[in-house]
Amino acid sequence: MTTLPIGPGRARQGEIYRAGVLGRSPAVPADCAELERRAQGAMSLRAWAYVAGGAGEGATMRANRAAFDRWQIRPRMLPGQAQRDLRTTVLGNELATPLLLAPIGAAGLVHDDSDLHIARAAAQAGVPYVISNQGCTPMEDIAAAMGDAPRWFQLYWSTDEALVDSLLARADAIGAGALVVTLDTTMLGWRPADLNLGSLPFSQGIGIAQYTSDPRFQEIVRERVARATPSPEKVEVTLGALRSLLSISRNHPGPWRANLRSPEPRAAVEAFLDIYSNPGLTWEHLGTLRQRTDLPIVLKGILHPDDAVRAVELGASGIVVSNHGGRQVDGAVASLDALPAIRAAVGPGTTLILDSGVRTGSDVAKALALGADAVALGRPYLYGLALAGQDGVREVVANVLAELDLTLGLSGVTSVAELGPDLLQTAP
Ligand code: FNR
Repeated sequence: MTTLPIGPGRARQGEIYRAGVLGRSPAVPADCAELERRAQGAMSLRAWAYVAGGAGEGATMRANRAAFDRWQIRPRMLPGQAQRDLRTTVLGNELATPLLLAPIGAAGLVHDDSDLHIARAAAQAGVPYVISNQGCTPMEDIAAAMGDAPRWFQLYWSTDEALVDSLLARADAIGAGALVVTLDTTMLGWRPADLNLGSLPFSQGIGIAQYTSDPRFQEIVRERVARATPSPEKVEVTLGALRSLLSISRNHPGPWRANLRSPEPRAAVEAFLDIYSNPGLTWEHLGTLRQRTDLPIVLKGILHPDDAVRAVELGASGIVVSNHGGRQVDGAVASLDALPAIRAAVGPGTTLILDSGVRTGSDVAKALALGADAVALGRPYLYGLALAGQDGVREVVANVLAELDLTLGLSGVTSVAELGPDLLQTAP
């Protein structure tokens, strides 16, 4: 008898079915439709609006899914190898699997200590976590929760250049493997679900922990308060307010909301709203980045091949092909549809990561076949978080990787490296 190795797909199936014999069911559903449905039930109206909502009428979100559905896999039989090699190369480094966790801000809407749960699950799974600039826990604490596991940092370019430098320095100090600059959110998109509730997490102090923990941001708030009311006591009160905002950002909003009606915490929130992002951002700003950090630069939110070429010319080593999960421009092209032309424009040497609409292991296989080096998972891991915290995130990641492994094996593909467009055809 030959004993064949078991890959992540069969391992995950075995784990679930063996637990089933003992009457235990998994913490999260194995399909995304049910995952989403159950997560909605576990989330507040405001959290659901923020997480699941998209821009305008939702056309881009639908296009993201339709693009995956338009491609079909043509399985080949009997590759004769029991195990798949899921390794990929990203920014010159080997990753065990072609998956990252996309940066997601204000996750504290969904779960206490959200970013710490996500970070620990990512570390357990060996999947890099892209820490959001709109996180709910200071990046230093997130990094501490991850040990040596890989993390990147995502930046929104502030109107305050000193704050940009401070965030860059902190990202470097926490051992970030890359700096991801998000280009598609110089302003928030038109998001009816949030607008209809009058709800923006940041204005309630949720998702601003990278700011309230930043020395330059604290200086900005002190200056603003001192200008408005030049009394030393006021400035001290504001520092106290910043500390309490930090704990708001980490946790659920409810009990803290009243607190934000008082003037000092509002000053911090208002300072954040004024400076967190720069609607006048230019390629010239980005051109300064190569001199300001040694971290590899990844530009997120690119959909046009000309922008991709420009990004590489300015020193970016990687691009996230993304429409922000359909949250910014309603009617924007699906990320998957934008991918092949971008790969053709930048050639094989630039790392391409795809996100927006990735829900299954089969989706991951399609994105890799169309030219991505890796894929970033977004909303699904937040649904796992809503249902079961760290375990929920870990299980969602394990499920996607399991299905990727099985999809490859059952399609005659033995390694991620050999994936190419010949695996696919367009649906008739
Ligand atoms: C995001 N996204 C995002 N992107 C970013 O660069 N910084 C951020 O802080 C956030 N915050 C955020 C919050 C929420 C609730 C969502 C759903 C998304 C975008 C994210 O990184 C990624 O591009 C999308 O999530 C991909 O789309 P899907 O696959 O989640 O639909």
